[in-house]
Amino acid sequence: MKTLTTIDSLRAEIASWRKAGERIAFVPTMGNLHQGHLRLVEIAKQHAERVIVSIFVNPMQFGANEDLDSYPRTLDDDCQALQQLQTDAVFTPTPELIYPRGLSEQTFVEVPKLGDHHCGASRPGHFRGVSTVVCKLFNLVQPDIACFGQKDYQQLAIIRQMVEDLSFPIEIIGVPTERAADGLALSSRNGYLSAEQRAQAPALQQVLQQVAAQIKTTDADFRSIESAAKAQLEAAGFRPDYLTISDRSSLLPAEHRQQALVVLAAAWLGKTKLLDNLEV
Ligand code: PAJ
Repeated sequence: MKTLTTIDSLRAEIASWRKAGERIAFVPTMGNLHQGHLRLVEIAKQHAERVIVSIFVNPMQFGANEDLDSYPRTLDDDCQALQQLQTDAVFTPTPELIYPRGLSEQTFVEVPKLGDHHCGASRPGHFRGVSTVVCKLFNLVQPDIACFGQKDYQQLAIIRQMVEDLSFPIEIIGVPTERAADGLALSSRNGYLSAEQRAQAPALQQVLQQVAAQIKTTDADFRSIESAAKAQLEAAGFRPDYLTISDRSSLLPAEHRQQALVVLAAAWLGKTKLLDNLEV
């Protein structure tokens, strides 16, 4: 596996693959790789001859009081795991390489509407940071395919819209969420949980499953199902940020009898925010 740290070396490697007529799949990450990330790599391998992963803790998507400095950085272990999967290359740029002008003078990409609510409401600027860095990485790597996790449902929707709006010739593949045996969605931030919080955490997915069952079996109004589910999360020790029964494409609150739904939720356990979702 090649470790690429400069734009010139990245472009040279990509050019050699292109010359050989090989298809390229790309998996952008912020590192601290777990089985969820590695699943994306496996799916990527099924779609292309070459797979490249980026590891970049993107400062633009972190708010001023968020965990940019403490975000787990485990490059050696990450590279070992990627090598075992026979990944072709890993791109590990520095912030200076990605943002030579600094963050405030950098051109940005923003996807309207989709990025305003849910996680966008509580993390202003977060999705601008995500779409800007993914746009830049797409221009550097120029992949045929890129894989993203359904765990970050809103992020995946935003990337799909950006790709469509800006005419990127890239196929976006959404990969189902990898979970621990007790149902908790794998996340780099699960490492922040205490033993007690880790034991509470699977309740988030359980509440989503109960919401899905209610949608299928009752005539209850969606807003009242949402309120009851939030109260359940509170009783289980969470501080809910949002829990909404939404339309899968607009992510706007859905009404009773609407089809193609997704239940989206984010909730705090102490200082850790957990995200999960369930399509219904
Ligand atoms: P990161 O949190 O490292 O996640 C990288 C990719 O792994 C994302 O597409 C995410 O949805 C996916 N992923 C995370 N946990 C998963 C799980 N349990 N199952 C399946 N996929 C999972 O998301 C980001 O980084 C960044 O915002 C990024 C897109 C790299 C832009 O900086």
